[in-house]
Amino acid sequence: MTQDELKKAAALAALDYVLEGAIIGVGTGSTVNHFIDGLGGIKARITGAVSSSEASSARLRALGIPLVDLAEVDELPVYVDGADEIDGGFSMIKGGGGALTREKIVAAVSRRFVCICDASKQVATLGRFPLPVEVIPMAARHVARELAALGGQPKLREGFVTDNGNLILDVHGLAIAEPAKLEARINQIVGVVTNGLFAQRGADVLLLAAPEGVRREQ
Ligand code: 5RP
Repeated sequence: MTQDELKKAAALAALDYVLEGAIIGVGTGSTVNHFIDGLGGIKARITGAVSSSEASSARLRALGIPLVDLAEVDELPVYVDGADEIDGGFSMIKGGGGALTREKIVAAVSRRFVCICDASKQVATLGRFPLPVEVIPMAARHVARELAALGGQPKLREGFVTDNGNLILDVHGLAIAEPAKLEARINQIVGVVTNGLFAQRGADVLLLAAPEGVRREQ
């Protein structure tokens, strides 16, 4: 099976977690795109979707799935999203697609985070995938210096602007032994909007696709 076929298998397994009549939180990325396509087939069973990016909104809209503004809901029962890395404690690195801030906001409002991944995303220690950090443009150099002081090698994501009009620094060379601590520490740097560590609010369910099938862990 190709990696994309594995992503699709994990994504379609997540349709089991969509609640009848509910609003579903939808993440961003190539794995989530398969989930959105599957959601199109059962759209009559849901009220609508809260989206975490302009890209996912466009795909949901094209399938006729009603978009709901997060500002209009107090709580979401389920949020489905991918990850760039996930560890044994269900802490994640996210933001490879640059949607980390909105993803983190939607995740914060959700009761259950269902993470959909192919098996290559599972790691013992987070950090081989460069950690994305969204920064206010005028603070980019300051934040880069602070991240270097924490032991990382930040690189500006060239030619990329987030849905919020900000920049991304991808931080290489971090071995992240304590994800929740580092998440809080990086968020304290002035000029950081948020960082791609999802540890304080990690996943609740992991649907991990391997050639043998989709493993459900929680
Ligand atoms: C986007 C994300 C994605 O969930 C993450 O990058 C995984 O992407 P893909 O499903 O394309 O492998 O965090 O900001």
